[in-house]
Amino acid sequence: MNTLVAVTGAEGFIGSHLTETLVAAGFRVRAMAQYNSFSSYGWLETLSPDVLDQVEIVLGDVRDPGSVQQLVEGAEAVYHLAALIAIPYSYQAPHSYVDTNVTGTLNVLEAVRRLGIPRLVHTSTSETYGTARTVPISEDHPINTQSPYAASKAGGDRLADSYHASFGTPVVTLRPFNTFGPRQSMRAVIPTVIGQVAAGTRTITLGDPRPTRDFLYVKDTAHAFLAVGTAPADAVVGRTFNAGTGGEVSVGELAALIGKLMGAELEIRQDEQRIRPAASEVMRLVANASRLRAATGWGPEYDLERGLGHTIDFFRNPANLARYKTGIYNI
Ligand SMILES: NC(=O)c1ccc[n+]([C@@H]2O[C@H](COP(=O)([O-])OP(=O)(O)OC[C@H]3O[C@@H](n4cnc5c(N)ncnc54)[C@H](O)[C@@H]3O)[C@@H](O)[C@H]2O)c1
Repeated sequence: MNTLVAVTGAEGFIGSHLTETLVAAGFRVRAMAQYNSFSSYGWLETLSPDVLDQVEIVLGDVRDPGSVQQLVEGAEAVYHLAALIAIPYSYQAPHSYVDTNVTGTLNVLEAVRRLGIPRLVHTSTSETYGTARTVPISEDHPINTQSPYAASKAGGDRLADSYHASFGTPVVTLRPFNTFGPRQSMRAVIPTVIGQVAAGTRTITLGDPRPTRDFLYVKDTAHAFLAVGTAPADAVVGRTFNAGTGGEVSVGELAALIGKLMGAELEIRQDEQRIRPAASEVMRLVANASRLRAATGWGPEYDLERGLGHTIDFFRNPANLARYKTGIYNI
């Protein structure tokens, strides 16, 4: 029987790719999808039958301690990805971000501690660094939380560190930089541009075109999770690892590149409602992921153009595009 691992946020963008990666690596996955009245399993519903054969889907909620305890029981490792992730929505509903990203993480840490689970991979984000003060950003860069989202994620990170220090909980924190690929929601810039072009629009509405990001293809992100989830404990436990490419591209350059790859003349229009408060906008993020490479051998396999190619193919498929609302501002 294959080794059992548990994943929170498994029905989401990165979680569904991670579930596939874990099954391909020989694991059985107990996958939490957030409880909802439609009995929707999100992106897990689109995985191939071969993969789903090794996946036990449970509906639950990380805000509920009992729900988390049932999820992780008997698992050799827990990958905790469930979170509220949109920065604009965190301006509107900050309490729900604290409930999900801070209290939810506390519930996962407690369950892992009480049940003696051998490994927890906690998910952070590059947003916790705020606008880069030095580049590339190493894990020693100061934390500067410029949005309620970033603050709630940093709160979860600090709890994870404290559980390792206080109880020896075997937690490792992965801090991915901006991830993109098939299945990402239209809240992120790459699906926003590709989705609008795929739907036939040529005047693309965006927020500020100046911020730069280090875009990591989702398969590489999933392999970074696998790397820290399976590395020997003395190499990773109690540590935080960036996952990024070290490359940097601005939102404006990115939109132009997507236009070129999709063979479309694009006009970019700035949309006021997408502009973030100046002090909240993170202007520059670029990763130094050498710690992760040194500890696990991980490195990205996709460059930006190849990753965009796969993402464009996904959004050009009408069945996939039909799942999105390309005509509105998705927060
Ligand atoms: N997408 C990125 O660029 C990026 C970068 C760095 C870090 N991250 C982190 O990666 C993780 C996954 O993000 P994603 O981009 O796949 O987003 P996503 O929104 O697709 O996935 C998050 C999942 O968490 C689930 N969830 C939310 N609240 C929950 C709750 N109370 N109980 C159970 N499940 C709940 C959602 O249903 C969703 O499927 C998050 O922790 C995010 O902070 C993402």
